[in-house]
Amino acid sequence: MKITILGQSGQLAQELQKYLKSYELTFLNREKLDLLNINKINEVLSKYRHDIIINTTGSNKVEEIENNDNEYERANIINNLALEEIAKYCSDNDIYFISYSTDYVFDGKQDAPYLENSLTNPQTRYGITKDQGEKRILANMSNCLIMRVSWVYSNVAPNFLHTILNLLKNNKQIKVVSDQFGTPTSSSFIAFVTQQLINKYESYNNTFSILGIMNVVPDGDTSWYLYARLIEEIYRGTNFNLSDSLIKNISSDEYSRIFNTSINRPRYSVLCNTKMKKTIFKDTKLWSSYLRELLEST
Ligand SMILES: NC(=O)c1ccc[n+]([C@@H]2O[C@H](COP(=O)([O-])OP(=O)(O)OC[C@H]3O[C@@H](n4cnc5c(N)ncnc54)[C@H](OP(=O)(O)O)[C@@H]3O)[C@@H](O)[C@H]2O)c1
Repeated sequence: MKITILGQSGQLAQELQKYLKSYELTFLNREKLDLLNINKINEVLSKYRHDIIINTTGSNKVEEIENNDNEYERANIINNLALEEIAKYCSDNDIYFISYSTDYVFDGKQDAPYLENSLTNPQTRYGITKDQGEKRILANMSNCLIMRVSWVYSNVAPNFLHTILNLLKNNKQIKVVSDQFGTPTSSSFIAFVTQQLINKYESYNNTFSILGIMNVVPDGDTSWYLYARLIEEIYRGTNFNLSDSLIKNISSDEYSRIFNTSINRPRYSVLCNTKMKKTIFKDTKLWSSYLRELLEST
């Protein structure tokens, strides 16, 4: 089985390299395939043979995309327009296509976890590009799976885990919002689910039915504040007294005022993982177990 991975240095691409090492992997990093050169995508992909293409690329700088038109234009190509070219290429060549999307396609006004077919209504420019990218893939092919993931972290910076650990190491007080809820997801969890999916794809071959959109998150949810508190608790170890915590909770409104930002991030963007559990991985654990595993192994 020949698998081509778009992106190489990102958090997820690096984990996939470990989880998919039994397959014949080709990595196309930005030097080999810059998605901004949209007219070259077909030509570059045609140089390789692939059974599966996995797209780990993304322009994910939510603040910059919101506030800078050039950054938005770039994100719109990488997260959206380029996906049409890749999807058409995969459809024409009978290739299974896996790509990753985000909880930011939702407006966060719900109080119960979002299903794969819940109505999207992104509130940020980043979310709009990812939402349109999903629709562009699905309009151009059917042999594909879009995995929606959320609050991704790993050992590879930058991500929220890294930011909090750095501030803790420097003994800095940290203000974190306590009224936005989601599910922190390690890139190794996503890579593991992707590996399980590909194993199934290989064994089912022509009758494969895991298609469309699938939420890929562990169990449970939390706020950014409680997530940061758990990072601190694990980092400090058993003698840590919570009253010594450097992490202080604030509301999204206070955060916007203090840091002069007006981004409308979803208040509640928990994704329902029932489809994933039924089709790929039923023994999912709580998000906090995966965080502990990662922090305690490093
Ligand atoms: N990070 C999150 O919290 C989060 C949340 C929800 C969804 N997601 C989605 O999950 C997927 C993986 O995210 P991640 O956290 O692993 O991303 P990441 O660490 O930011 O990596 C981004 C990847 O995109 C590639 N890339 C950027 N611009 C490119 C261009 N012009 N041409 C080709 N490649 C380009 C980079 O390529 P190089 O390797 O060449 O540098 C890098 O490999 C993405 O689709 C992302 O949108 C992420």
